[in-house]
Amino acid sequence: MQRFCSIILAILLAVFSTVYGCPPSEMEALLAFKAALHEPHLGIFDSWTGTDCCHNWYGVSCDAESHQVADINLRGESEDPIFERAHRTGFMTGFISPEICRLTRLSSITIADWKGITGEIPKCITTLSFLRILDLIGNKISGEIPADIGKLKRLTVLNIADNQISGRIPASLTGLSSLMHLDLRNNKISGPIPRKFGRLQMLSRALLSGNQISGRIPGSISHIYRLADLDLSMNNLSGVIPRSLGKMAVLATLNLDCNKISGSIPTTLLTSSIGNLNLSRNALEGKIPDVFGSRSYFMVIDLAYNKLSGPIPRTLAAASYIGHLDLSYNHLCGRIPAGEPFDHLDASSFTHNDCLCGKPLRTC
Ligand SMILES: *[C@@H]1O[C@H](CO)[C@@H](O)[C@H](O)[C@H]1NC(C)=O
Ligand SMILES: *[C@@H]1O[C@H](CO)[C@@H](O)[C@H](O)[C@H]1NC(C)=O
Repeated sequence: MQRFCSIILAILLAVFSTVYGCPPSEMEALLAFKAALHEPHLGIFDSWTGTDCCHNWYGVSCDAESHQVADINLRGESEDPIFERAHRTGFMTGFISPEICRLTRLSSITIADWKGITGEIPKCITTLSFLRILDLIGNKISGEIPADIGKLKRLTVLNIADNQISGRIPASLTGLSSLMHLDLRNNKISGPIPRKFGRLQMLSRALLSGNQISGRIPGSISHIYRLADLDLSMNNLSGVIPRSLGKMAVLATLNLDCNKISGSIPTTLLTSSIGNLNLSRNALEGKIPDVFGSRSYFMVIDLAYNKLSGPIPRTLAAASYIGHLDLSYNHLCGRIPAGEPFDHLDASSFTHNDCLCGKPLRTC
């Protein structure tokens, strides 16, 4: 009897899911989400009809077992035929409705590059405990990062770049223990970087440039073992560069340009794994440490527009590779070293210093 019941149940479930595809409550939530958006040119929501939201609804996919919506993937710039037919990129207005939070099994939300979506990130988004990816790049979203964002323990990607997000980075963000990729670039975020930023142990890219972030660079960042790319440029950061940044195992790109950073350049930074280093447009002073050698391999060293003084380090000529070097607009003085790394550089790398001489500037 029990066996019979479970067979009946299985048949009923199968019928249910082929008829309905997704649970009616999920479909209602999707339709309410769509109702808050307006996409005038492409018709990306034209396919959102009928009762089976798990099949052929543009940008929607469901979990194979639960039939609940797992992904919303709507990109305004894509190779999809829908865009090629229309010969244009996407544009969408409206806002992200909190109804999206009724889709409790969501694991990724990508609503990217629609240029015209306004409103805030729904606060309830932090209740979506299965969320791994939140990608809202390239809209006009304002308001603040939800204060309890740290509840999203599975979140690996948080990308809200190129919006109008304001307010501070909530302290709770440092609780995103799975986060690998953080992109907050080009918003209006102010206040400091949370002191315990270094708790983000899985982080490999931290891109915070183009905001109004102030205060010091927290030393705890150097505890992020996997961090390869740190971009804090074009903010209002002050204080010194923590020495420990030069001790990081895999840090390859460090951009601190366009801030108010002072003090001297830590020696460690120039003997580290960093190959792209932009410290230009700060208030760095003192000498450039004379610690280069055959292990120095830099795609970029940009130290322009600081207050550096003294000579150009002699050892720089022994570096194995220097792709782009910019020392202009400092107070450097003395003979430009001769050697292979300097052969391809032109005068613009050295102009506007106090008294540099030698090729490619005037002879000494
Ligand atoms: C930048 O930081 C300084 C303090 O270091 C503060 O006085 C100033 O208002 C900040 N500017 C912006 C645009 O946030
Ligand atoms: C370094 O940063 C400055 C200021 O943001 C920028 O103008 C410059 O192009 C950057 N240097 C390199 C080599 O990318």
